[in-house]
This record gives sequence, structure tokens and C-alpha cells, in this order.
Amino acid sequence: MKSNSLKNLAIIMDGNGRWAQQRGLRRTKGHEAGIEVIRDITTYCANHTEMESVTFYAFSTENWKRPKLEVEFLMKLLDRYLKKELITYELENIRFIAIGDLEKFSAKLQETIAITAEKTKNNTKLTQVLALNYGGRDEIIRAANRVVKQGEAITEASLGLALDTPYQDIDLLIRTSGEQRLSNYLLWQLSYSELAFTPTFWPDFNTLELQQIIDDFKNRKRRFGGI
Ligand code: IPE
Ligand code: IPE
Ligand code: MG
Repeated sequence: MKSNSLKNLAIIMDGNGRWAQQRGLRRTKGHEAGIEVIRDITTYCANHTEMESVTFYAFSTENWKRPKLEVEFLMKLLDRYLKKELITYELENIRFIAIGDLEKFSAKLQETIAITAEKTKNNTKLTQVLALNYGGRDEIIRAANRVVKQGEAITEASLGLALDTPYQDIDLLIRTSGEQRLSNYLLWQLSYSELAFTPTFWPDFNTLELQQIIDDFKNRKRRFGGI
């Protein structure tokens, strides 16, 4: 049997807060530790020959409900991460793009996001997508409004093209921390994805476990409604 190809991977990085609390640390320490894992996993994906993109859920449209201090911390961490990460993007030939409604972010953060995307736009080995102020429903609504504005009919093709991400079909979704839900992530793109859930908290996730999940994915039987 031919094994499944893995072009587009999506990850819900969950469990930073619980990882920190388990160690008697503040939740923010969990976010700091989690950031380091993004780099390792992205580098691994860049060196995985068939992979084209990896999409990380970094901040949801629902995450604004968190305490103001935690939200502010996450925004600062993101800004710092992107600036620091330029070296990795260049070394590993990785393109960075963001999806989500970025207008809600500060002008400074929006600028960092835009500059990082611009500077890495010709990199070709992998696209790292960060979902920022992202909600699956919000993305579909914004896409539908774009299509209507252009005076086109809503079809699978026109709506698909108007979505934030060029990667329409996610092959594999991984969620860490034991929760088994989508939390409004990539609702359109996940329609036929294989799902993998692990109890590992995100800061403890590593390339070895990713490899194990990929090995399992490779041997699954994907039918897409056929037989
Ligand atoms: C995921 O970890 C990171 C973000 C949502 C930004 P959490 O912060 O949700 O950690 P838990 O789920 O509370 O442990
Ligand atoms: C999903 O995690 C969002 C991100 C990982 C950015 P949450 O921790 O916010 O999701 P719920 O609240 O458990 O559904
Ligand atoms: Mg969580």
C-alpha cells in the first residue's frame, strides 16, 4: 500500500498554561517555553522533503477573553519571536505568512508581521503559517464578504480562493494537551484532515513525538468518501 503524503500540517499548540502551573510557575512561563518548540518543529518540517506548509494556532479570536495581562504578554512575545526568528527563516529557507484578522493588533505588531512576511517572501522550502486573531468562522465570513464584494457567486472555488490561507487541504492536524476539539481552527481546511491528539503539553512536544505521529498518519487509510 502506498503511504499517505504529508504536504500540509496544522497544529493546535495547547497546554502552555497547564505545563507552567504543574511546575508552580506563572502561565506566561509556559508561553515562553512553548515558543522554543515552534522553532524546533518548524525546522523539522522544513527538512521534511514533501512538506509544503505548517500552520500553527497561536492566538484565536476567542483568546481575547483571557486576562488583559496574559493577552499583552502574548502580543509582546509574538513580536519578539518574529524579530528573533528572521535568522531561522533565512537559514532554513522558510517563508512566513500570517492568517487571521490582523487589524485588531497594535500598529507595531502589524508592522513586524508585515516586515517578516515581506523579508521571507521568496523563501521556498516551507511556509510557516501563524494563525493570529484567527477563527475559522471569522475567516469564512470575511472570505464570503470578499466574494460578494467582487460581485461573484459563492462557489467552493471562489470562496476557497478568498480565504486567508493558500493551503486549502490540511492533511494532518495535531492537537497537544489532551483536549479533543477544534476550538474554531481552520474549519474549512480541516474538512478531510486526519486528526491526531496527544496528551503532551505543548512545551514538552518534540520532533520525536512528531515523527511518531507522522509514522502513524502515513499508514492510515484515507478514503475521502470512496471505498
Ligand atoms: C496554548 O496554551 C497557547 C495559547 C492559546 C496562546 P494555553 O494557554 O491554552 O494553555 P492551557 O490550555 O491553558 O494549559
Ligand atoms: C486554542 O486553544 C487556541 C490556540 C491554541 C491558540 P485554547 O486553549 O484557547 O482553546 P480552548 O479554550 O481549550 O477551546
Ligand atoms: Mg488551552
